[in-house]
Amino acid sequence: MTGADAVWFANLATMQPGRGAYGAVADGALAVLDGRILWAGAAAELPQPLVTPATGIHDHPGCWITPALIDCHTHLVFGGERSAEFEARLAGDSYEAAARRGGGILSTVQATRAATEAELVALARPRLRRLLADGVRTVEIKSGYGLSLDSELKMLRAARALGREHGIRVRTTLLAAHAVPPEFAGGADAYVDHILGDMLPAALAEGLVDAVDAFAETIAFSPAQTARLFASAAALGLPVKLHADQLTEGGGAALAAAFGALSADHLEYASQAGIRAMAKAGTVAVLLPGAYATVGARQPPPVAALRAHGVPIAIATDCNPGSSPMCSLLLAANLACSLFRLTPEEALAGMTREAARALGLAQETGTLQPGRAAEFAVWRIGHPRELAYWMGGLSPLHVSCGTG
Ligand code: NIG
Ligand code: FE
Repeated sequence: MTGADAVWFANLATMQPGRGAYGAVADGALAVLDGRILWAGAAAELPQPLVTPATGIHDHPGCWITPALIDCHTHLVFGGERSAEFEARLAGDSYEAAARRGGGILSTVQATRAATEAELVALARPRLRRLLADGVRTVEIKSGYGLSLDSELKMLRAARALGREHGIRVRTTLLAAHAVPPEFAGGADAYVDHILGDMLPAALAEGLVDAVDAFAETIAFSPAQTARLFASAAALGLPVKLHADQLTEGGGAALAAAFGALSADHLEYASQAGIRAMAKAGTVAVLLPGAYATVGARQPPPVAALRAHGVPIAIATDCNPGSSPMCSLLLAANLACSLFRLTPEEALAGMTREAARALGLAQETGTLQPGRAAEFAVWRIGHPRELAYWMGGLSPLHVSCGTG
């Protein structure tokens, strides 16, 4: 047996299924070799040959180690801000009305098109750093504020550059079907043709697409347009995700499931049939309490039905300038508990194991078990439920990003 590069001693919240609440191991040990987890279990059972004179020992008695956190739904790269829209909504305006007037997403499109790639990176950098301060080491970042070939590619390049700059995992999602841009006003079908014929192939050729997403909604794309996009993505072997049933019941959950989507996100208005279809397809429900709170939604997502059908639940910040100006995943976890009645254990699973699944990374990260990347956070807390209890603001003592 090879010796470990490092062994960490603390309580473990492995989040491994079948290991009890939080997959917890009191007084545990986590052995790391070459950036992967070699062994995780009770310290008393640590195989002695794993510890050699060269092994680094990190002792954190009473602390907890969790998987590093994963924000599986963000729009972190954008220009401008929309505080005036926020203020108008508080005075009685609605999110949909602003979008129909050409504000909303399209106002961010203007600001994003006007920015260079370097400017977008500079604007997103402090947002990313706030996420990282929460112990996040994997972030999904969507395009969708460019809506032209050049600007969508610019957004995706900026997202990838941020990942490289910070040595973290960034997954990029092409969300060209976020809104119909002004050049295609009244011609959503022609715009979808443009996405399929030009944007998707170009982004793919440059290696910038990990998944394809769309906003299926009365103010955005129809089920038929979304299905056309998903069929092309599937033909190219790309996984899909969907902004589904956020503002109205539009059959989004079922549509996502029909294409074997990695996730269907938002879901406030998802139908029972849609939830059943998601359970069958293994599609993760990504809940976004920041958007729910910010748009002043009244109907929470159907958490009881998701649970009853065994749909995996993830949570994310949805960080974006319109519906969720939020850069703390721990705050999202807290709100998911207070607003959606998730349990603190579900919230932690939702930003580790299930978030990994929502990105197609379940075999790589999100749990503390042998073979997974050594991506974990050490917290000075008395119990893992504290991560959802504090309204953000907790910072890990240390986060490992694959090197132990
Ligand atoms: O996830 N629902 C659509 N997209 C974003 C909001 C984008 C925006 O308003 O700028 C969301 O909530
Ligand atoms: Fe979103």
